[in-house]
Amino acid sequence: MDKKVLVEELNRLKESSNYRSLTLQNENGLNLSSNDYLGLGRDRSLREEFYRDNLPRLSSSSSRLIDGSYDEIMELERRAEEIYGKPCIMFNSGYDANSSLIETFTTKDTLILTDRLNHASIYDGIIHSKATFLRYKHLDLMNLEELLKKYSKRYTDILVISESIYSMDGDIADIERLVALKKEYNFTLMIDEAHSYGVYGYGITYNLKLVKDVDFLVIPLGKGGGSVGAMVFCEREFKEYIVNRSRKFIYSTALPPINSCWNLFILNKMNDFEERRAKLEILKNYTLKLLKENGIKIESTTHIISIVIGDNERVVKISDNMRRKGYILYPIKEPTVPKGTARFRIGLNPNITYLEIEKFVEELRDEINSVL
Ligand SMILES: Cc1ncc(COP(=O)(O)O)c(C=O)c1O
Repeated sequence: MDKKVLVEELNRLKESSNYRSLTLQNENGLNLSSNDYLGLGRDRSLREEFYRDNLPRLSSSSSRLIDGSYDEIMELERRAEEIYGKPCIMFNSGYDANSSLIETFTTKDTLILTDRLNHASIYDGIIHSKATFLRYKHLDLMNLEELLKKYSKRYTDILVISESIYSMDGDIADIERLVALKKEYNFTLMIDEAHSYGVYGYGITYNLKLVKDVDFLVIPLGKGGGSVGAMVFCEREFKEYIVNRSRKFIYSTALPPINSCWNLFILNKMNDFEERRAKLEILKNYTLKLLKENGIKIESTTHIISIVIGDNERVVKISDNMRRKGYILYPIKEPTVPKGTARFRIGLNPNITYLEIEKFVEELRDEINSVL
C-alpha cells in the first residue's frame, strides 16, 4: 500500500468535486435527505412508549449460531413469518443480506440478470460470487425477457434481481410482471424492498399477495422501518442453508436484543401508521406538483424525488447554498449514481409542512437558476 498513491487519488476526487467527508448531522435545518420516510426513527413519543414496556440488552454478545439466538430475535422471526406467511431470517443489515444471499446461493453455473440500477450491496454480492451476470435496462422488463429468451436454454440456474422502489430515482418495478416472467421462464427471483417497507406497510410484494412467489424477499429496516437490520423471507430449506452456509450470517455478532425488540414493536404497529402514510401521500403529490410548476424537472412518482443536476461541482454548490439557507439536502454523486447524473434525492416524511415545502421549492428553484 503506497500512501502517496492514495493521497493522489484523494486529490483527484477533490478536483472533480467527488470527495466525500463526514460532517456532523445538522439537527436544526429542514431535513430532506433522510430515509426516515414515516418519521418513525425520530419519533420521541414512539420511543417513550417503547422504553416504557421494554428494557432489552444492548448487545447480543454472540453470533446467531453460538449464543445469539435470544428470545427477542427468535420472536421477531416467528412473528414476521406469521405475518408474511413465509419463514424469516434476520440479517444485520440490508447490505449483508443482499450480498450474502447472492454469494451463498449462486455458483459458477448461475446466470444473474440484474437491473442496471440495483444497489451497490447487490453488485458487491455479484462481484464476490462466481456467477456470470448481465444487466438489463433499468425497469425494462421487455429487455429482461429478451435476455431470458436468449439464455434460458443455456443456463438452468438463473437469478433475477430487482428492487421494488429505486432509491436514487424513486421509480417502481413491476413486481407482478416479474412474477409472471418467473412462472414462464422458471428462474429464481430476488426482490429488495428497502424503500417501500413502512411507506407501503409491509411492502409492495406483500400488498400484491406475491410473497409466496418471490424466492428471496429482502426487507432492510433502516429506512421507512426506522431501525436497522434486514428481514429475509424464503423457503425453509433456503433458511436452513443460510444458517449453514452464509458467511455473513454465521460469522458476525447478532443484532442486539434492543434492536430486535424495536423491530418487532414497529412490525406489530405497522397498521397503526395509516395516518402517516396518508399524509405522506398528500405531501408527495403536492411536492411533485410544486416542482413541476416551478420548472424543476423530475421523473419520480414516489416519496423519493430525484432531481438530476448533472455536474458534480454544480450539485455541491447548490447543496452548500441550500445548507446556508437551513436545508439539509446532500448531493448524490458517482459512483452512487451514474457519472454525469449528480443529483438531489429528496426523501419526504409526513412531518414536513406544506409551508416548509413551498418555501423549499422556491429556494431550490432560485438556486438551480442562479448556480450555472
Ligand atoms: C436498495 C437498497 N438495498 C439495500 C441497502 C442496504 O441496506 P442497509 O443500509 O440496511 O445495509 C440500501 C441502503 O443503503 C438500499 O438503498
